[in-house]
Amino acid sequence: MKSLHLLSILLISMIIIPTNTHGGKKKEALGSQSQHSRTKKDQQSLETKFQLYTDTTGEACQILFNQLETLDKCSFNASLPLVMIVHGWSVDGILESWIWKMAAALKSQHKQINVIIADWLTFAHQHYPIAVQNTRYIGQEIADFVEWLEKSIQFSRSNVHLIGYSLGAHVSGFAGSYISGTNKIGRITGLDPAGPLFEGMSPTDRLSPDDANFVDAIHTFTKQHMGLSVGIKQPVAHFDFYPNGGTFQPGCHFMHVYNHIAQYGITGITQTVKCAHERSVHLFIDSLLHEDKQSTAYWCNDINTFDKGLCLSCRKNRCNTLGYNIREERLPKSRKLFLKTRARMPFKVYHYQFKIHFINEIQGKKIDPSFSMSLTGTKEDAKNLPITLIEGINGNKTYSFLITLDTDIGELLMIKFKWEGTAVWKNIWDKFQTIIPWTKGTRRPGLIVKTIRVKAGETQQKMTFCSQSTDNIHLYPAQEKTFVRCEDRLRQHKRK
Ligand SMILES: *[C@@H]1O[C@H](CO)[C@@H](O)[C@H](O)[C@H]1NC(C)=O
Ligand SMILES: *[C@@H]1O[C@H](CO)[C@@H](O)[C@H](O)[C@H]1NC(C)=O
Repeated sequence: MKSLHLLSILLISMIIIPTNTHGGKKKEALGSQSQHSRTKKDQQSLETKFQLYTDTTGEACQILFNQLETLDKCSFNASLPLVMIVHGWSVDGILESWIWKMAAALKSQHKQINVIIADWLTFAHQHYPIAVQNTRYIGQEIADFVEWLEKSIQFSRSNVHLIGYSLGAHVSGFAGSYISGTNKIGRITGLDPAGPLFEGMSPTDRLSPDDANFVDAIHTFTKQHMGLSVGIKQPVAHFDFYPNGGTFQPGCHFMHVYNHIAQYGITGITQTVKCAHERSVHLFIDSLLHEDKQSTAYWCNDINTFDKGLCLSCRKNRCNTLGYNIREERLPKSRKLFLKTRARMPFKVYHYQFKIHFINEIQGKKIDPSFSMSLTGTKEDAKNLPITLIEGINGNKTYSFLITLDTDIGELLMIKFKWEGTAVWKNIWDKFQTIIPWTKGTRRPGLIVKTIRVKAGETQQKMTFCSQSTDNIHLYPAQEKTFVRCEDRLRQHKRK
């Protein structure tokens, strides 16, 4: 744990105090609050390079501000919407590979759009606090660019969608707030918006729901150390998605850091920071590439409640789709949505709430057992899913928990529920038999599992399962019981 803590400090200091003093033009910090209002009229060129991505060549064609002919030359189609990708803070001063993946994914599934990469590398390849100050300046430039499109070719700002990663999310927010006039740009997507120097700031000093007609954000690396997290924790959008709770992501575990360091040296650390931080980007790309595997996220207060399976409701628009195909809905208040994901693309999982009513017959003794389940669906099976109940089983109570499956098993037909009686547990339990005298003398006290109620998040279907055998409702260690849909069992009994 100690090395993990050290490592975290190292990660944070990497973010705050970048060591790159090489290369990159020395720019002044231009972006302080009062300075962003530079005179637009006589500004003939911008520092930001606006590169139109063309999928035919996989290359980019630079559109020059106030030079109408470059729009033609680059084949900007004014009758199609514009998606602009805005990168974040840069350690090495080059465009990261995800940018091209994102551009290609946008073009492959939605050919009917213009894709522009806003390259502000010379202002992003700076010490972090300076790059932060520059976000306002670049935001102003993007606002100028959109206003120019509006004036010169009647391109509506409502057709503009800014996708900003890390610092780029706040750049996009500033672009949205600096654009003049009362109308807003169409949409801003913040991909793990940067945390340091933005967390806790007023809405005017960071990305916020006021910056566009619709704002969504995906938070993937908000693990906090020394009061800081790489990604911002607080909600900044109309819909804020927290995949796997938003703190850290599966497949990015710190165990892998050591491998990364062994493999890449000190840059291995950057790889690990990037893993969870950049996951937001790949979740978004996933939503473009796998139209048939859209991830649903659910409105919830926090991840603990979500992990109990208590939030899988889609009633009154409580759920939404993560990524490009989100349902755009303006709400008066930010809404936090949660979901689980796989460690790799496609990231989608299927969420289920299980509610099991247990009666613990071993009075006064809290049972802390582990269970496993095997599920049979109309399409597939899922075998030996481990279940850990956070609290031990006591008395007579219903327990609720979340189970996720990587595959679509179809409609759930049958549940095999097993009390994983480890040798040790069985031993303890057997001792119990000898100490506790049971009433009728014919059977041993055990656990009674009456019904299992299941709710499928993705289909919103609710089902109730009953023990297949009606005469034996007791569960003992190492024993497996089969549960079928209660209505099926009823039908079988009538037939008999
Ligand atoms: C622009 O897009 C529209 C709509 O898809 C299409 O009809 C038109 O041909 C395109 N224009 C050019 C110059 O490609
Ligand atoms: C369990 O609790 C319910 C109500 O809370 C009660 O009706 C039932 O009799 C209890 N069962 C046992 C075995 O204690």
